[in-house]
Amino acid sequence: MGSLGGETVVLAVNGARHEAAGVDPSMTLLEFLRTRTPVRGPKLGCGEGGCGACAVLISKYDPATDEVTEFSASSCLTLVGSVNRCSVTTSEGIGNTRDGYHPVQQRLSGFHASQCGFCTPGMCMSIFSALVKADKPKPGAEGEPAAPPGFSKLTSCEAEHAVSGNLCRCTGYRPIVDACKSFAADVDLEDLGLNSFWKKGCADVGKLPEYSAGSVCTFPEFLKSEIKSSTVDQNTGDVSAPAAIAGDGGGWYHPKSIEELHSLFESNWFDTNSVKIVASNTGAGVYKDQDLHDKYIDIKGIPELSVLNRSSKGVEIGATVSIAKAIEVFSDGTPVFSKIADHLSKVASPFVRNTATIGGNLIMAQRLEFASDIATVLLAAGSTVTIQTASKMQCLTLEEFLEQPPCDVRTILLSVFVPDWSSDNVTFETSRAAPRPFGNAVSYVNSAFLARTSGDAASGGLLIEDICLAFGAYGVDHARRAQKVEEFLKGKSVSAPVILEAIRLLKDAISPSKGTTHPEYRVSLAVSFLFSFLSSLANNLNEPSKDSSIPNGNGSCANGKMNGIAKNLPEKQADVASDNLPIRSRQAMVFSDEYKPVGKPLAKAGAELQASGEAVYVDDIPAPKDCLYGAFIYSTHPHAHIKGVNFKSSLASEKVITVISAKDIPSGGENVGSSFPMLGDEALFGDPISEFAGQNIGIVIAETQKYAYMAAKQAVIEYSTENLKPPILTIEDAIQHNSYFHTPPFLAPKQIGDFDKGMSEADHKILSGEVKLESQYYFYMETQTALAIPDEDNCITVYSSTQIPEVTQNVIAKCLGIPCHNVRVITRRVGGGFGGKAMKGCHVACAVAVAAFKLRRPVRMYLDRKTDMIMAGGRHPMKVKYSVGFKSDGTLTALHMDLGMNAGISPDVSPMLPSAIIGALKKYNWGALSFDVKACKTNVSSKSAMRSPGDVQGSFIAEAIIEHVASTLGADTNAVRKKNLHDIDSLKVFYGDAAGDPQTYSLVDIFDKLAASPEYKQRAAAVESFNGGSRWKKRGISCVPITYEVRLRPTPGKVSIMNDGSIAVEVGGVEIGQGLWTKVKQMAAFGLRPLCADGEGLLDKVRVIQADSLSMVQGGFTGGSTTSETSCEAVRQSCAELVERLMPIKESLEATSGTAPSWSALITQATMASVNLAAHAYWKPDPAFVNYINYGAAVSEVEVDVLTGATTILRSDLVYDCGQSLNPAVDLGQVEGAFVQGVGFFTNEEYATNADGMVINDGTWTYKIPTVDTIPKQLNVELINSARDKKRVLSSKASGEPPLLLASSVHCAMREAIRAARKEFAVDSPLTFQMDVPATMATVKELCGLDVVERHLESLSAAAKA
Ligand SMILES: Cc1cc2nc3c(=O)[nH]c(=O)nc-3n(C[C@H](O)[C@H](O)[C@H](O)COP(=O)(O)OP(=O)(O)OC[C@H]3O[C@@H](n4cnc5c(N)ncnc54)[C@H](O)[C@@H]3O)c2cc1C
Ligand code: FES
Ligand code: FES
Repeated sequence: MGSLGGETVVLAVNGARHEAAGVDPSMTLLEFLRTRTPVRGPKLGCGEGGCGACAVLISKYDPATDEVTEFSASSCLTLVGSVNRCSVTTSEGIGNTRDGYHPVQQRLSGFHASQCGFCTPGMCMSIFSALVKADKPKPGAEGEPAAPPGFSKLTSCEAEHAVSGNLCRCTGYRPIVDACKSFAADVDLEDLGLNSFWKKGCADVGKLPEYSAGSVCTFPEFLKSEIKSSTVDQNTGDVSAPAAIAGDGGGWYHPKSIEELHSLFESNWFDTNSVKIVASNTGAGVYKDQDLHDKYIDIKGIPELSVLNRSSKGVEIGATVSIAKAIEVFSDGTPVFSKIADHLSKVASPFVRNTATIGGNLIMAQRLEFASDIATVLLAAGSTVTIQTASKMQCLTLEEFLEQPPCDVRTILLSVFVPDWSSDNVTFETSRAAPRPFGNAVSYVNSAFLARTSGDAASGGLLIEDICLAFGAYGVDHARRAQKVEEFLKGKSVSAPVILEAIRLLKDAISPSKGTTHPEYRVSLAVSFLFSFLSSLANNLNEPSKDSSIPNGNGSCANGKMNGIAKNLPEKQADVASDNLPIRSRQAMVFSDEYKPVGKPLAKAGAELQASGEAVYVDDIPAPKDCLYGAFIYSTHPHAHIKGVNFKSSLASEKVITVISAKDIPSGGENVGSSFPMLGDEALFGDPISEFAGQNIGIVIAETQKYAYMAAKQAVIEYSTENLKPPILTIEDAIQHNSYFHTPPFLAPKQIGDFDKGMSEADHKILSGEVKLESQYYFYMETQTALAIPDEDNCITVYSSTQIPEVTQNVIAKCLGIPCHNVRVITRRVGGGFGGKAMKGCHVACAVAVAAFKLRRPVRMYLDRKTDMIMAGGRHPMKVKYSVGFKSDGTLTALHMDLGMNAGISPDVSPMLPSAIIGALKKYNWGALSFDVKACKTNVSSKSAMRSPGDVQGSFIAEAIIEHVASTLGADTNAVRKKNLHDIDSLKVFYGDAAGDPQTYSLVDIFDKLAASPEYKQRAAAVESFNGGSRWKKRGISCVPITYEVRLRPTPGKVSIMNDGSIAVEVGGVEIGQGLWTKVKQMAAFGLRPLCADGEGLLDKVRVIQADSLSMVQGGFTGGSTTSETSCEAVRQSCAELVERLMPIKESLEATSGTAPSWSALITQATMASVNLAAHAYWKPDPAFVNYINYGAAVSEVEVDVLTGATTILRSDLVYDCGQSLNPAVDLGQVEGAFVQGVGFFTNEEYATNADGMVINDGTWTYKIPTVDTIPKQLNVELINSARDKKRVLSSKASGEPPLLLASSVHCAMREAIRAARKEFAVDSPLTFQMDVPATMATVKELCGLDVVERHLESLSAAAKA
């Protein structure tokens, strides 16, 4: 293996000098930072540029100009060799515990913008980079006014875009955007959401942590001096190019000229298999290396490749110019150039665009069939490229270049030239349809069109003289021109029949290759794009009564005009444009001082620590001596004997130390990887038979995590299916084979009433309704991880990112065949769980335990995102058939439902799901309710609990049925909902004791507050009027009520007071971002308040410490939404015991001195009196009050783009009954975060699997969780407190899971919008249609009608003829 040879890479990390001596040249900056420096802020979230968790600021110094340039970058893709002489700033570098936090970190904390915190350092760096960029003095802008004191020059819009490439699975983004916007000079501070800086109405910049631009030094002087001394001639002052890092034994080559590059190509060591040519290496995010490379040639130092020449003829851009730089250059130019800039700014994300090069992109498009936007756009703009092959330099049109066979590794793209079209009479337009408007998502189809037109005297319109139509990303090898369509259009004046014919020709030309997803949808997108463009050139397509604009941007067709040619849109605007609306929000809640500091909206404990990157997650624990690393080898066959595992001969397989498999389980141990108490186990290893694709077969052990990952990719598994039955993969298969998990009677939900009788009372019946829901992946930002350290006497300590340390301990003990007291499982914090770090976390913990036990060395594992996605499973997919009876007035009389869920290979929590599904479905009074819910055992990865498991499906199914009923009756859906909400009597029939006291039933009031309000009526009328005036955009509004039953479980807690008065608290629950520690701290301070005059002062004395399965036994589960309140209650009981013990001492001190003793005096006295200062409680719920119901409702209003299927959530209003909130800021965060996670489930997260049942959308490229640009443009939340109920913990209620159900309001609103589109275009059965989950862009477009454009044009043509 080569190393960075020749000159050693030197870099500054947060101001400190580091040398990357002897490192492997394939090492990324992230790996270097995390393994060679103390820095832990940058995290590995995806390793493919798609999440931003690894974002850092890179600064470069130019000794010639004495200038520093800074930009954010994804450190997971940046190779360490390419940051020689750079300065890297991480979140710890801008602020930390020792030196004080940076205002970005303080504001993220104060705006409640960090939950699990795993994304927060990356967010912090994206915001910080945006501030640095905005506030950097710009040449020529000396006279510009400075930003007002305390603010940055950043605008609100830039603030929103700053984090557009960063994923967060917890918060729902709104508070992050607020924190970011608080720096923007154009913000109205009063518009920002709940924060700990001011109360509503008292916003003031002076109350915010002070910001002053430039306070962080991003490039240290020592490095400047080093650079100067090596590049500046000390006598003449001339600056020479920096010395290349090269060398015989080294692996990083940095040629300074094309000639040097060619001599490298021609040298003996050059081998196309092991040498990699890199510009910025972001392509590695797309095409992941299958094997290690030992030699790299970095072409960024070649001057010819970095040219930037602007002339009257056009712009020449060197191949290594970054996309960000190209945007800058194009923005400042002709309309065609600005359109290009606009399109490029939707490519990837800010931190990718800052480094990714234009040349790298075009080479990927040419050689690797990458679905490039840049190739399409530059193709239509008539660009040419200059390439250098071994023998010659060539200038080709981009089209010729793309059409050539894939170029070889020795072909270098030098530059691209884009002509200046300003002197011609041209119209240029670009479009892309992708799941995210701001970028960070590759498009389904992109297009760019350029037309030269002239006035047509005959028609009075425009005559197309010449036209170039480029389409890309639709499943072809590269961007292509639709030449037949171009030929047809040349010389034509545009009219409806002409467009129709052009579209017919286009449909022949656009042909996605086999295996492309959603082929028909892609073709229809191409049609939409062409239609929009041509309509803008036509003169007579306006219909006065049907007005709408087709704004530019994601998922939207574009229109426009250039050079003074008037645009003729197909329609006019009927309402405000919905794209790019700034995010607005409102929060309303009741604060109570009754139990203070419980009830205060305190900032999350440790949020600043999380923002600075100092918070320690499992993978941040320094590696112990001799630590080894593991990676899973998983089966890709759903049912086969494993005959053997071999490795391809490769650089990576040379790194394998050993492979751990089932045979390494110690005698007395069992092959068990997880176990759900009373329900069943799942094996750790597929041995001797693999029972599903994705099952663990063995663990590759290597010396670094990267070697383990790479080696695992080289594994070749030999399978045999001899004598095995075919796998059962689907619900239908399972039903056919009677393959089920059975629900024990005590967990089974009860049928209600007599279905047949109910049906006989019905005026109407629907007998065969169907609906389908797919799976959802957790997408916690921290993938599964554990570190096992063997200890003396057959003991082992496992640091695990788990929600269930107690169960993990039990499973490890069972697997190793040792007693539980030999196993210590420690969990400090979890970087997002959502249920996925329960059963699935056990497997990883067990795997490292087995390996460490066998090898007698510490072993750690941090799953790469793909493996995590393949192994983790997720939500249960379901198929439902229903029969429902109802009266003409909408009253329901009976429902029967047959539901099949795909549970996967092991029971996990599946037997518990029926009661959750039915629990949420029962929100309506169905009259009689009967059901048959089958948990199907199949050969796919086991599905587990994911936030609101079962409930979210049950609640949605109820809505699908209600909508079906309403559309059958032609009735208003909300009226049908309202009619069938329970009264207290029916609530008791359906929910039994969980119904609680009548005054706690708040659902009807909540629903009325939203759905019966004058505002709702006005908005519904506005939606109708919008739809009447707009053809291509349709809106829908819907209000959905929810119920969610939760269960209180026994939970332990322990409070220990130290001699100095500081307090350590332990609870059974784990901090997974839900704010458990914050509430527990508040409760401890409240519980001890009788002992301390200044109860709130106690808050700072409390530290909640990590979960430890040997210290706090019977910890149970963190899940089901009630862990915070039950942990709090256990802490309160512990405090009560301490108060009882300490009160006599307090009273006696008070009697002696006449005043209440200080806290420290009291504790000193108690210590001297040998009072036991630790109290432990195991709280158990009152058997008469184990379950209670949560209520809420949401109104969502959406706009659907009929041409692309894109949905914009214009506004969501959530009302949630939180009881007397223990911490309203935390609960608000839970409500918003859950809602947005639900939006992902209902709209965009496509869990596609292959024919073997293995997930294929297995990374950030294909699996699209919500981002800042897909959340509601306006998100209003009201937390209400229905009624005091002392039976609940301080009258509080749960908030973690129930609000996720509210997201179905978005799906329901989408249905209304689609219904409007179907009415407009007379699609068959306009009112009643099945709309499954998720309703992705493709689904929406299909439901609106893939051929709406053709239908429309046909009707126009027919009208013209008539
Ligand atoms: C998260 C993410 C999202 C993205 N989204 C989009 C998107 O929406 N639309 C889009 O169009 N693109 C998108 N991209 C692709 C991105 O534009 C490319 O990754 C980038 O431009 C490649 O540039 P690079 O300098 O990093 O190339 P590298 O990764 O360094 O190189 C890529 C390939 O090109 C070769 N190469 C590089 N430069 C040259 C040259 N001058 N001559 C010959 N060979 C060369 C390399 O050997 C390698 O094979 C995305 C990328 C990421 C990581
Ligand atoms: S880890 Fe680098 S972008 Fe996700
Ligand atoms: S706080 Fe953003 S991922 Fe958890």
